[in-house]
Amino acid sequence: MSEGKQPVSRRQFLNYTLTGVGGFMAAGLMVSPLRMAIDPVLQEGESEGDFTNVQLAEGDITNEPQRVDWEVEQVDGWYESTVSQTAWVYKDDNGEVVALSPICKHLGCVVSWEGSEEYPERFYCPCHDGLYYKDGMNVPGTPPTAGLDFYEHRIENGMLFLGKVQPRGEA
Ligand code: FES
Repeated sequence: MSEGKQPVSRRQFLNYTLTGVGGFMAAGLMVSPLRMAIDPVLQEGESEGDFTNVQLAEGDITNEPQRVDWEVEQVDGWYESTVSQTAWVYKDDNGEVVALSPICKHLGCVVSWEGSEEYPERFYCPCHDGLYYKDGMNVPGTPPTAGLDFYEHRIENGMLFLGKVQPRGEA
């Protein structure tokens, strides 16, 4: 008796099924590492230009630098954390908002406006007596060799939004 079609044997059926299921599972296992490898790149792109409402009304910004603290959610791969940020904010003589980074350009300590009674009208870094003028430029003869960086900023509905730190460039 001749057979036109070869029926699939039980062994072949099991081979096909296990190969298919195994391949599907292997593909599933690859998705997670691939996403972990690519995700930070995607996150960086998505967060580009992100601004945070720092809960300071434009009308409350004076020509006296004031410290503003806020928090941002940071995602690094699968790790999520909350990061505290600080800026020194004031309006310059033209009424333009200025938001300075508090990170000293010498060795990275945190500066404060009038942080020393000896140096009024200056940003002061307590680590090595670094000084900056109100516009953030470093005072020559003190350890910092560059001015404080700026935060990107914008005003929306009367509130101050701050973004990423922008390097000031060469002093
Ligand atoms: S870290 Fe600020 S003066 Fe050295």
